[in-house]
Amino acid sequence: MKYQEILNEIEIELSKKLKSGKIASYIPELAKIDQNKLGMHLYCINSGHYGFGDEKEKFSIQSISKVFSLTMAMNLVGDKLFSRVDVEPSGDPFNSLVQLEYENGIPRNPFINAGALVIADVLVSNLENPKKEFLNFIHKISGDDSIRVNDKVFESEKKFSHRNAALLNLMKSFGNIQNDIETVLDLYIYQCAIEMSCHELTTAFMIYANGGKMLSNNIQVISTTGIKRINAIMQTCGFYDEAGEFSFRVGLPGKSGVGGGIAAIHPGQYAVTVWSPLLNPKGNSAVGMYALERLTTLTGLSIF
Ligand code: DON
Repeated sequence: MKYQEILNEIEIELSKKLKSGKIASYIPELAKIDQNKLGMHLYCINSGHYGFGDEKEKFSIQSISKVFSLTMAMNLVGDKLFSRVDVEPSGDPFNSLVQLEYENGIPRNPFINAGALVIADVLVSNLENPKKEFLNFIHKISGDDSIRVNDKVFESEKKFSHRNAALLNLMKSFGNIQNDIETVLDLYIYQCAIEMSCHELTTAFMIYANGGKMLSNNIQVISTTGIKRINAIMQTCGFYDEAGEFSFRVGLPGKSGVGGGIAAIHPGQYAVTVWSPLLNPKGNSAVGMYALERLTTLTGLSIF
């Protein structure tokens, strides 16, 4: 497959397209980002790296971190995890509280905020130094020890985390949060404030494209059953109340973040990341979705 030619074509198409959407402003530090940033990187299992634009510039991974935390929690506690968090699409926005009340504090899936907060609680219960071990996990799968948290983004989200605190309190009232709320919130905000480039995220996401193994050394990071499950949850829940639309238009498992990133995989073929900070009304990168739609259209390949 001539991936570089296809990416070049996408870059030209995007330069002609009128950009729509809004930057995430509920985390004030994110609102400072240049809305014209645009990068894309594809890492093919058989033929290596391709990309364009701001593919090497770091951005806030935000909810894309939920894929890594889910992977760690599954490795730590196995199937027990799914008695505390379900695996159904929510059909609601990522930060919604409404379902939690009538579903007895069990979040619909690990990618809405409520679910990711339960996962953070599991990490706090099972790791000695959850923040350090979270970062170490990313260093390992990306092969890059320089990846860090952006302290300004971390502090900025801390000041405006009332909704996530509300989700935690509600779940705690149902007995589905075991640790101190501040500690769990702190880990969750920390993981969201990690900064990675398209190049780094794509390399980290290779484990999801490559049956759970790192491509560089063949080390199995998560079982093949685990990979089946994580990719299935990305496919059905990775874009909140737009998961159906993403499947329909792109046809790959993926995960978005309000920093404007989208990482996706084609099992057995490649991992890919796009970054463009303007978000559509559902909180997903508008240009990112379009770029990935063009990728699966121009290659003629999706998982379907
Ligand atoms: O909890 C929040 O609101 C953010 N730290 C992450 C939300 C997010 O990235 C949603 N994804 N599109």
